[in-house]
Amino acid sequence: MIQQRIDELAKLGSKIIGPRISEGHCVFCGNEVEKGGYCYCKKAEKINTQVRKLRKLINKYGYITDLKEYTHEQIIEAHFPKKFAGMGFDDYITETDEQKYNLQIIKNYAKNALEHYLHATNLIFVGHFGNGKTMLMSVAGDEIIRKFGIQVKYVNIYDLAEEIKKTFNDKNKSASAVIEGYKKAPILILDDIDKVNPSPFMIDLMYGFSNYRAENQLPTWINANHSLEDLSDKFYQEGTISRFFENSIKAKFTGINWRLRG
Ligand SMILES: Nc1ncnc2c1ncn2[C@@H]1O[C@H](COP(=O)(O)OP(=O)(O)OP(=O)(O)O)[C@@H](O)[C@H]1O
Ligand SMILES: [Mg+2]
Repeated sequence: MIQQRIDELAKLGSKIIGPRISEGHCVFCGNEVEKGGYCYCKKAEKINTQVRKLRKLINKYGYITDLKEYTHEQIIEAHFPKKFAGMGFDDYITETDEQKYNLQIIKNYAKNALEHYLHATNLIFVGHFGNGKTMLMSVAGDEIIRKFGIQVKYVNIYDLAEEIKKTFNDKNKSASAVIEGYKKAPILILDDIDKVNPSPFMIDLMYGFSNYRAENQLPTWINANHSLEDLSDKFYQEGTISRFFENSIKAKFTGINWRLRG
């Protein structure tokens, strides 16, 4: 089962990345490259990051003896909201065209998650309260872990701020270790980024996330009630939001609040 997963990821991954070495030479600059090695020309560099990401993902399977247990641990580590545990895409009821469209967007992302992971496609959900944004992201994250073993980490911005604050009074915990844990997550879900007024510390932290993740080609999913303009103007910096916006798939949610349905 594990070998089958490795073979599938390797095959699909190489197809997504495309040819980079042909007959011992870099397809971009023509320089000689040893088998399995890297060319460091400018064009090859972007692809090299994808190759490293794929190798890292596959190498993890070398330490695994039980795929089911590994998947289970990854899901626990993801910290999805408990209320969506055990839910699937089928639980999202589609009564409107918008719901149908948005469900398709997230389903497609999950289906093509390896490609989106390697290409670092961000995901942005904005819209009204109680529209299933968190639900869909949690369900999709769960599905991606099960199907591809790509680690997804979920965090609500309020909880993140609290988690960091707690480390200030605990000499056994470090704020930077908490931050690093999220910053480097293969797929990071930042939920409710506008539910609290961010402190200058959080504004800087979000910039750090957006910059690190863009530089290292890591996808980030963000979830908010305000428009992207407001997120740039009133909550974070334009530099932060535009980094998430670049190379992203976006969906708008304008339905009624599901929590208030009679
Ligand atoms: N289309 C839907 N089908 C089934 N359940 C739904 C649907 N939309 C929302 N819900 C349910 O409504 C509740 C609120 O959903 P969720 O927390 O995902 O909303 P949200 O868009 O993230 O809201 P907020 O912006 O307030 O965080 C959840 O219990 C969710 O399961
Ligand atoms: Mg939500």
